[in-house]
Amino acid sequence: MTRHEVEAFCTETLEALRRIQSPEELEQFRLTYLVQKGRIRQMLDRLRQVPTEEKPAIGRLLNNLRSTVEEEFAALRNRFERQRSHDPTFDPTLPGRLIPRGSLHPVLQTLDRMIDIFVRMGFAVATGPDVEDDHHNFEALNFPPDHPARDMQDTFFLRRTDAHGKPLLLRTHTSPVQIRLMESMQPPIRAIIPGRVYRNEAISARSLAEFHQLEGLCIDERTSFADLKGTMIAFAEQMYGSGIRYRFRPSFFPFTEPSAEMDIECFLCGGKGCRVCKQSGWLEIVGCGMVHPHVLQACKLDPERWQGYAFGFGIERVTMLLTGIDDIRLLYENDIRLLEQF
Ligand code: DAH
Repeated sequence: MTRHEVEAFCTETLEALRRIQSPEELEQFRLTYLVQKGRIRQMLDRLRQVPTEEKPAIGRLLNNLRSTVEEEFAALRNRFERQRSHDPTFDPTLPGRLIPRGSLHPVLQTLDRMIDIFVRMGFAVATGPDVEDDHHNFEALNFPPDHPARDMQDTFFLRRTDAHGKPLLLRTHTSPVQIRLMESMQPPIRAIIPGRVYRNEAISARSLAEFHQLEGLCIDERTSFADLKGTMIAFAEQMYGSGIRYRFRPSFFPFTEPSAEMDIECFLCGGKGCRVCKQSGWLEIVGCGMVHPHVLQACKLDPERWQGYAFGFGIERVTMLLTGIDDIRLLYENDIRLLEQF
């Protein structure tokens, strides 16, 4: 490495530095000349090969170069930074980029609201298994063998069987948890049971093979149909508004007697009739009734002493009514354009 070569390098380096017009070019210069293995470092390393008598002069050249470059580089960088903050297109008062925030699924939001209302009324929250046996899902709920009521709920059966050789199944409703509660604890009982249920059903705008229910059970001495109605009305007023109009219709469920369904006035059309209420002006929101004596007996409770009521809501249905979503499948397509609205 000759003195001549080093001088040429110094000139070239300073010219490159002084040609710089933009922060991008400045960065490029830094990467070429100033980093650990950059060109200035390489030159300094080659100082070792220089004959001893030349070393002081060449060393001085390179050291001078390095300090000049570092000084000018810092000055340039400062200038660019100042320019950036004086750039009329740079506005530090603009709001930052919004980071999108997630939210609970609309079905879960509905469930949370419902649970909240019942918990404030004194109900405990209980759960049970998704895989059930015939006894809990049907038999103890007063669905006799071969009774047509079993066909009301098309069942997914498993290959595994219970102790009696009957196939296990995916629960078709949350009602079996009523039985599990009555078998496992002494009344009084006052519990709600949220959970997932399964039915072998054709998927359509109105039904899915997998959906959610909220079951309720209250067992005590001297519980009456008036208690059931009062509870349902208190719930509906908190969920849908205190001015809500409602009606109870007689219905049938094997595990309750008498059985009823509660309708509320369609809040979409105000009772005039629309697509959602199928022109009736009413929306069915819950099935309910007084726990059938056969069910109490199956759980070894004396119907002369204990009575109670039960109820079952479909959560997706309630969610659809509250949100105006008219196709149940939309709830589980995971399309962000729908979900981000809740
Ligand atoms: N298990 C019923 C169903 O899936 C809903 C139901 C109706 C639950 C009446 C109840 C009840 O507890 O009393 O259709």
